[in-house]
Amino acid sequence: MREGTATLIRREDYTAPAYWIKTVDLTFDLDPIKTLVINRMQVERNTGVPVQPLKLHGEDIMLTRVLVNNESVSFRHEDGMLVIDNLPEGPFQLEIRNTCCPEKNTQLSGLYTSGGGFFTQCEAEGFRRITYFLDRPDVMAVYTVTLRAAKTQYPVLLSNGNLVEQGDMMAGVYGPRHFAKWHDPFPKPSYLFALVAADLVAREQHIRTRSGKDHLLQVYVRRGDLEKTEHAMNSLIASVVWDEARFKLPLDLERFMIVAVGDFNMGAMENKGLNIFNTKFVLANPATATDVDYAGIESVVGHEYFHNWTGNRITCRDWFQLSLKEGLTVFRDQEFSMDMAGTATARAVKRIEDVRTLRQMQFPEDAGAMAHPVRPDSYVEINNFYTATVYEKGAEVVRMMQTLVGREGFARGITLYFSRFDGQAVTCDDFAQAIADANPQSELAKQLPQFKHWYAQAGTPRVSARGRYDAPSRTYTLGIEQTALPSPGQPVKQAYVIPLAMGLIGRDGQALPLQLEGEAQPVGTERVLVLNEARSFFTFVNLDVEPVPSLLRGFSAPVVLADHLADADLLTLLQHDTDPFNRWEAGQRLALNRLLAAVKDGAPLQLDDAFIDAMRKLLRHPELDAAFKELALTLPSEAYVAEQLNPVDPQRIHQAREAMLLQLAQALRDDWVWAFEAHQVKGGYSPDPVSSGRRALANLALTMLCRDAIARGDVVWPGRAYERFKDAGNMTDRLGALTALTHSHAELAELALQRFHTLFKSEALVIDKWFALQATTPEKDGQVFARAKHLLKHPDFSLKNPNRARSLIAALCMNNPAAFHRSDAAGYVFWADRIIELDGINPQLAARLARVMDRWSKLAEPYRSGAAEALKRVAAKPNLSSDVAEIVHRALQQESQ
Ligand code: PHE
Ligand code: ZN
Repeated sequence: MREGTATLIRREDYTAPAYWIKTVDLTFDLDPIKTLVINRMQVERNTGVPVQPLKLHGEDIMLTRVLVNNESVSFRHEDGMLVIDNLPEGPFQLEIRNTCCPEKNTQLSGLYTSGGGFFTQCEAEGFRRITYFLDRPDVMAVYTVTLRAAKTQYPVLLSNGNLVEQGDMMAGVYGPRHFAKWHDPFPKPSYLFALVAADLVAREQHIRTRSGKDHLLQVYVRRGDLEKTEHAMNSLIASVVWDEARFKLPLDLERFMIVAVGDFNMGAMENKGLNIFNTKFVLANPATATDVDYAGIESVVGHEYFHNWTGNRITCRDWFQLSLKEGLTVFRDQEFSMDMAGTATARAVKRIEDVRTLRQMQFPEDAGAMAHPVRPDSYVEINNFYTATVYEKGAEVVRMMQTLVGREGFARGITLYFSRFDGQAVTCDDFAQAIADANPQSELAKQLPQFKHWYAQAGTPRVSARGRYDAPSRTYTLGIEQTALPSPGQPVKQAYVIPLAMGLIGRDGQALPLQLEGEAQPVGTERVLVLNEARSFFTFVNLDVEPVPSLLRGFSAPVVLADHLADADLLTLLQHDTDPFNRWEAGQRLALNRLLAAVKDGAPLQLDDAFIDAMRKLLRHPELDAAFKELALTLPSEAYVAEQLNPVDPQRIHQAREAMLLQLAQALRDDWVWAFEAHQVKGGYSPDPVSSGRRALANLALTMLCRDAIARGDVVWPGRAYERFKDAGNMTDRLGALTALTHSHAELAELALQRFHTLFKSEALVIDKWFALQATTPEKDGQVFARAKHLLKHPDFSLKNPNRARSLIAALCMNNPAAFHRSDAAGYVFWADRIIELDGINPQLAARLARVMDRWSKLAEPYRSGAAEALKRVAAKPNLSSDVAEIVHRALQQESQ
């Protein structure tokens, strides 16, 4: 653990390494208590920098020997690094021997044990927990790895690249031993190293890619889980095909392996040729996984596979450039999922989901204590910067580039990027330059320095638009302003380049031709306006009536838009907009306006007929897809409503939203009955967009029907929900019915929850759902919080397993604001206790969960004071990890602001 070493690392302090490590030959004698590592490196000076000692990173490992060219040398430890002073002028061999203890490694960074096997996690700085090294991404080496272990316990021995040798060794005291030797021909940074030694089985598939080369794909899981690997394998095959077709990027490896592990801090990891995955993003069968899980697997399998080029072939020069690989790869996995979805509405559904995540996760981050640019300027703990900003906002920045250069232009840019930088460690600037250079006539190329403010400035820009129709001249002028609010360390901001996709709609719903002043004729009915000043004006001509503007179509930039549209305009967009995203957005805005009004004046919410009619029309619409309807009829989350307010009163938000849900349930009762009955899916399970959309809508309807029934004291719908829960043919419907019962606080929920636990007690990922469902149930009289506290003592609960810890702690503290933010501060006490406990086990995970307090300073009293006290208690913990310290210290700095 790195407690007490809280130094700030700055981007501007980057210097090239003093030495290069060209090759690494690693030998592991794997043992849970004491693993021996022999690390032989070919090292040479970097002649570009002044002569200096070699300083190697190392953490929580025991050094036993240091040899240079086979002779012992003197060395010292300084600031946690191993320093060797007198080294030969020319290339030399450096041999390090050290030991580590995988079994005690509860942080899950470096080499650790899980379910009786060995696994590694090296990004960002985990390799130094395995052996001494220049553990930084700009040092790229060719690895040869020999693994030795007990044969019966660890029959499968894997590392990156190709298997070159394997065989039996002399038996040890605990029985037969064996070894395997792997060689990875691609030079790579240490964060992409991986090994696995465990008792696993694999699903295998041979494929031949376009170029005619044969490849072996493998998905390794524990015995018994093999029948849950089909979807992951299909997703992998689809990823290979897609990257070749869309970006001409082929699979460059003879063998590509995915390994699932039950204890994992993140979603998955793109180690070269040996991806290691959280089981959550591999294992699925219809009985245990939901439609959402199936979609998650497809996108994460794609994401890690796409890293093979964007991240591995070209990697990051330093960790400040993290978005170079993550923003780009998220963009690629989003595009992949959209292309897989197929139809225009299914694509739009995916886009809406992505924007919803961005707004729910990234916007609050950008407005809170941890606000940072897509390319941060400083950090204490790099693990704290695997954020929604670096990932999701980073993806939006890449998407804006594509919007500015066009889809083909962007693909050309990617090709140029690889022809320039393949095999290198580069920067976000290098990427942006390549995309611009491949499209010299584009707006991106013309405005590149200004566009790059997106990388440098934190905070979500606000865009405010007002339209004015002038009947005599038949013109419509849009005045658009952009403002960027100050964020920590960035008081003044510069104007962004903002691509604003838009259209104009007539009162009858017709899309109007768009002709700007000075143009000879209209240019279609949709176009992208490029904003690059604090204020811009656009005048459209030849308009006979006042249009309704449809702005920021497809969410063409990550901004908050104030379009000042009246309800009547929003209703027009909801009915007629050809852009499905804005159509959805109009519905959300109508709901949001009503929620905000109710929260602000504290009066009980009373839904108006116009809104109810609009929602009914939408639900009953003859052409819209079920998946789209489900999104449109789902109210903005409490977190998103909170985003719009300052100060935030979570209880008032909850009350308003609950009231609105109930009224919507009651007012549309017959329509929900119809929706439920008309969207049953017959036949075998398939996670395709059409069937999953139907299931989603039917499940939403069922929840609404149960809410309404409970309020009326009716038992029919809860009874039907229980039957459906019992008889469901797949997890989506089973969990949907269980959710309907729990969320409506039906009496039958208890019985159903018990039954669910009994049915799935040996399925860890399903038990996670069981915990999460109880912790995310809408709060009612403090019951949900009390239950969550009680669940801490459940025999199946453990803080050591990240998925399980998240299923209860994150679910309650992050996804259930009304249960968490209590006037008696008990939620904050619960939070502080868990963070303190978890800090000693897994600081990375503790720091992630600590993030719920990011926006504490915007809370209304008494919440604000209670939150401050809890933060101070965590900050005062002796030996607090630098991970959690960075988060709580930054949060507490908000106090003065
Ligand atoms: N690089 C991984 C991904 O995004 C995420 C990750 C980061 C996993 C750090 C583990 C540790 O694909
Ligand atoms: Zn990634």
